[in-house]
Amino acid sequence: MKRILLNTDNARVSSDAIHSLQKKLAPHIITLAEARTQSYNTEYASINIPFDSAMHVQIKKTIAAKKNLNPSLLIVIGIGGSNLGTMAVLQALYGRLYNEQEPHTRVHFADTVDTEYIQDIVLLTKKELHKGGVVLLNVITKSGTTIETIAHFTLFLDILRAFYPDDYHKYIVITTDADSPLHACALSKNITCLEVPQKVGGRYSVFSAVGLFPLGLLGIDIDELINGAQQAVTDCTHPKEYNIAAHSASVRYQQYMHGIHINDLFLFSVDLENIGKWYRQLMGESIGKEKNIHGEKVEVGITPTVSLGTADLHSVAQLYLGGPRDKLAVFVSVQKTPSHYYIPTHKECSALDVGIYGKSIAAINHAILTGVCDAYDKTERPYMQLIIQEKTAFYVGQLLQYMMIEMMYLGYLFEVNPFDQPQVELYKQKTRKILDNE
Ligand code: PA5
Repeated sequence: MKRILLNTDNARVSSDAIHSLQKKLAPHIITLAEARTQSYNTEYASINIPFDSAMHVQIKKTIAAKKNLNPSLLIVIGIGGSNLGTMAVLQALYGRLYNEQEPHTRVHFADTVDTEYIQDIVLLTKKELHKGGVVLLNVITKSGTTIETIAHFTLFLDILRAFYPDDYHKYIVITTDADSPLHACALSKNITCLEVPQKVGGRYSVFSAVGLFPLGLLGIDIDELINGAQQAVTDCTHPKEYNIAAHSASVRYQQYMHGIHINDLFLFSVDLENIGKWYRQLMGESIGKEKNIHGEKVEVGITPTVSLGTADLHSVAQLYLGGPRDKLAVFVSVQKTPSHYYIPTHKECSALDVGIYGKSIAAINHAILTGVCDAYDKTERPYMQLIIQEKTAFYVGQLLQYMMIEMMYLGYLFEVNPFDQPQVELYKQKTRKILDNE
């Protein structure tokens, strides 16, 4: 069976403590297993997305229709849960240099409101249109009211209108909630609309049209992604078998109770960096809460950080190995790489051989990771290991889905609602007020 592996042997938690947390989680695992039979009617609705074949058929139809337009550039407009999952999967499977490799359809993400950044994307879009390329917009916003997204949509809509005055609507796909103001606006303009199920929040929506439409359009094997996610749902809602989501949630919670408030996802694969950023948002928004589910002020949360092996060993490793003992490292590595690239042996430069000549890059990466684990052991710092056999759509789907379910278990242990983000809403309201009064 193809499964990601979790090793918590060096997490420095007592097995008795983990055992009692697993017992505490047991009824919640059953709640999730039951939610599997209740479609989109519970707050755990997102775990049913990978099994929604009707939704997948509709997404695939839209992908096929828009591929017929032969797009050479896709602009994804969305922020937070509306684009981080897509960026994570895309980078994991196509690499950091995707756009530079002259793919059939390049992609840019318009998220942050920032003059220079957005101007660059606008200029690239106009250049593409002028040279006869086809530009497609995918606007993603669950609420349909996020300031950044609506601002960018309006800007790019004008550009498309100028180029395709009669049929600009054909070059836009909007992904939103059926009740959002954007949905009504899209329908009135004959723009294709894909829906996000009402009870599925942004950061849990990567396997809905939010992620699957842009990923499928860019040629990612979305069936395999979904198969991996299905595997994770089945495994991580199993009340009797070993359940990695419940297990790692227990380790993280136990560590938090002992003052380890920082979770560092230390990725030993450059292409997984955006998964780190996606996970950072998932953990930050889901667990960082002022109040618990009983309405009491608790101000809890694990601070998620992201580090990249091996570059960040030369940046933050000193702090991690010598500084305060407030961090749990989670080393994420990929077992098999598709190709082996070797360091040539330079006999005339034997003085430069630091043990690397004739070795593959993968072997050097592995040696460094092993060395780092040894250093963590020596300094008695806690860490876990997540091992992905291969960077394929199946494993990536499994990894993301496992992480989402782990967050549901962490929410239960912390007694917080992992699906809301009241303080994010607060900044949105405040900004709106300022803009309205200007
Ligand atoms: O996870 C979440 O719910 C948030 O991060 C949202 O995705 C983010 O705020 C963007 O919201 P929307 O999709 O409504 O534009």
